[in-house]
Amino acid sequence: MTTVTFRPADAVAGTVAVPPDKSITHRAILLAALSDRRVVIDKPLQSDDTGATLAAARALGAGVEGGIGDGRVVVTGRGVRGLVPPPVIDCMNAGTLMRLVAGILVGQRPGEVTVLDGDDSLRRRPMRRIADPLVAMGAAVTPTGEGTPPVAVRPGLPLHGMVHELPVASAQVKSCVLLAGLNAEGETWVREPVPSRDHTERMLRASGVDVMERDGMVGIAGPVAGLALPDLGVPGDFSSAAFAIVAGVLRGDPAVTVTGVNLNPGRTGLLAVLARMGADVVVHPGPDVAGEPSGDVVARRGGILQATEVTGDEVPSMVDELPLVGLLGALAAGTTVVRGAQELRVKESDRIRTVVELLRAVGADAEERDDGFAVRGQMSLPGGEVHSHGDHRLAMLGALAGIASQSGVTVHGMEAAAVSYPTFTDDMHGLGAVTA
Ligand code: S3P
Repeated sequence: MTTVTFRPADAVAGTVAVPPDKSITHRAILLAALSDRRVVIDKPLQSDDTGATLAAARALGAGVEGGIGDGRVVVTGRGVRGLVPPPVIDCMNAGTLMRLVAGILVGQRPGEVTVLDGDDSLRRRPMRRIADPLVAMGAAVTPTGEGTPPVAVRPGLPLHGMVHELPVASAQVKSCVLLAGLNAEGETWVREPVPSRDHTERMLRASGVDVMERDGMVGIAGPVAGLALPDLGVPGDFSSAAFAIVAGVLRGDPAVTVTGVNLNPGRTGLLAVLARMGADVVVHPGPDVAGEPSGDVVARRGGILQATEVTGDEVPSMVDELPLVGLLGALAAGTTVVRGAQELRVKESDRIRTVVELLRAVGADAEERDDGFAVRGQMSLPGGEVHSHGDHRLAMLGALAGIASQSGVTVHGMEAAAVSYPTFTDDMHGLGAVTA
């Protein structure tokens, strides 16, 4: 386990090109594997999670040239029904891989049962939310009695379309059902209480699939003839950029600039929250990348931040950034409250419990609620010692807390950052942060 102490910094400044987007990289590899062509994916995210997805594409029989660390991979697909289900797919820490690949597997030709498995954290995450709709479509998908991985998936059963109403917005579940819909008879529709990120829909459309919209639902008429994902370059990950942006908001002097960031509106809810808190953040829109808006973001330390409330409607567009709202709240005037965020309990860790624990460990006044948390701002943060619990976003939250603290924060389990942002500590050094 790696332990790193992040020292307090009076000022951080500079330009960061954050790593490529994790959600888009997973989808690009998987849709390329389903395509009828050789797809060049430029700048895939080099991380543990996306490495697992590339290995899965290979295990499914897709042609793979290059490794996830090569800056470019070429995936030659086997067609929308042409993959060969392997006995096991190790999804490691990647919930996105497990949920999306389940939707793909059910639509393949008869073959072996595939067991989807992962690490201890993934083995605790709920999979009935994908098993139930897939079974309702005619598939055989069996998680453990607790509804967790390992999940057995039998390919080759006839699938039929249906309308699936999600009780909680989830891009992973929506994508799983739509991917199954590619090979189902008739129309498959998904309705979410609040729209989640739409990377899958955009990429399917770019691949020539007619993704329909009606009455607030998104749908596919199957079985589709085929997919042809065009070559693409992956834009920077907003969820990684969020850490550099918040570093800029807390200590940016003169400024922290993040370049080439994906600005899909389904991802950038944090920007609205930062604006409400009075943060000095400016967005410079750039050209579309991979059919998605992108641009640069400049963040500076400004006046005193004001507390805010985040409600359930905002949660899907900033679900992975809510831990950062806790840290911002600890340094703002007033009490910051996050509500309607029960989903945080089933992320890579129980992020309501672990975020509150982390904030308290560094001296903040934070309180756990069933559906979120409340943080009473005290404008300064003493510092302390925290553990990542193997959760990448917790490790990086601890690091930022250290930079903004009075005496520094020691993070145990810093290596977890490699799940989404392997160069995080280097990038923080580049901005002037000091570690020991
Ligand atoms: C993701 C969707 C989100 C997010 C996860 C990645 C995706 O999960 O938390 O890190 O790539 O679709 P849900 O939409 O399932 O909440």
